[in-house]
Amino acid sequence: MIQELDPRMSRRKDLLDIESLTRDELLFLLDTARPFKELFTRSVKKVPALRGKTVLNLFFEPSTRTRASFEIAAKRLSADVTNLSIAQSSVVKGESILDTIETMQSMKVDYMVVRHSASGVPAFVAKHTPAAVINAGDGHHAHPTQALLDTFTMQEAVGDLRGRKVLIVGDILHSRVCRSVSTAAHKLGMEVGVFAPATLIPNGRPDYMKVFTDFGAALAWQPDFVYLLRLQLERQAAHFFPSLREYHNIFGLTRERFQICSDQGMYIMHPGPVNRGVELVDEVLTYARCLINQQVENGIAARMAVLYWLQPATTVLPMEEDAIA
Ligand code: CP
Repeated sequence: MIQELDPRMSRRKDLLDIESLTRDELLFLLDTARPFKELFTRSVKKVPALRGKTVLNLFFEPSTRTRASFEIAAKRLSADVTNLSIAQSSVVKGESILDTIETMQSMKVDYMVVRHSASGVPAFVAKHTPAAVINAGDGHHAHPTQALLDTFTMQEAVGDLRGRKVLIVGDILHSRVCRSVSTAAHKLGMEVGVFAPATLIPNGRPDYMKVFTDFGAALAWQPDFVYLLRLQLERQAAHFFPSLREYHNIFGLTRERFQICSDQGMYIMHPGPVNRGVELVDEVLTYARCLINQQVENGIAARMAVLYWLQPATTVLPMEEDAIA
């Protein structure tokens, strides 16, 4: 059964980051994702919750998981979905973001899912449209639905997350995933450790973040989850290291480090896409406690929960007036 929205849990128009969610809202979204996931085992995987609504996927940056899972999530809620392919859109002719948004708004979309390489674009869009806006990853800023699917996956693995530990490894400085996952983990009562090259640790990091400068010491801290960030080869991160082999040797999950993780029963996570041989050795991908495929599957349930919860400010008429005579 899909749970009714708790009348005390007021709905929001947009989801732009994890920071603005209360712990109760976070827990509510995770609790809502659970029955949506149960739906996936049925022959008919759809519910009518968003029937008659239109979801627009507006991805200015490449994506496989986030874009596909938002599309599947919206369809499983019975919404209509349009994917605007930026490479084939008038953006390449110089149309501004604002004009693109106004054009799409004229078509009366109810939800806009926005990914952009610049931080703040989804917030800008949200100010200029009555549609509910979901940040699908903006620059180095935030990737809130990634954090939801990750904490949902962690809950599935161990139950209550209070007192559990997550170690995040990699490019902490440039990672929107790290920012959102660490914030969500902290709000849910987890301890958060990070291990990164000194050049990729931010100065203004939150106090709760425990910083390790040695991978061995980080694993000796005995995290429940080792969360490997993707080395963003398309961004500047690759220039912070002499070579990818060196990155792997110092910051990757090598065979030896993986042995420690598996001996201690640690769960391994990664947001994808994986750079094999860089963040991890191939063996990790077939390890029983590697949660990477589960994270992808849970992305649909978590995004269904978000679409279900948000409240667009688009005009809502009573049913009978809504119907075309
Ligand atoms: N994790 C993630 O955002 O993957 P995509 O870039 O494939 O959407």
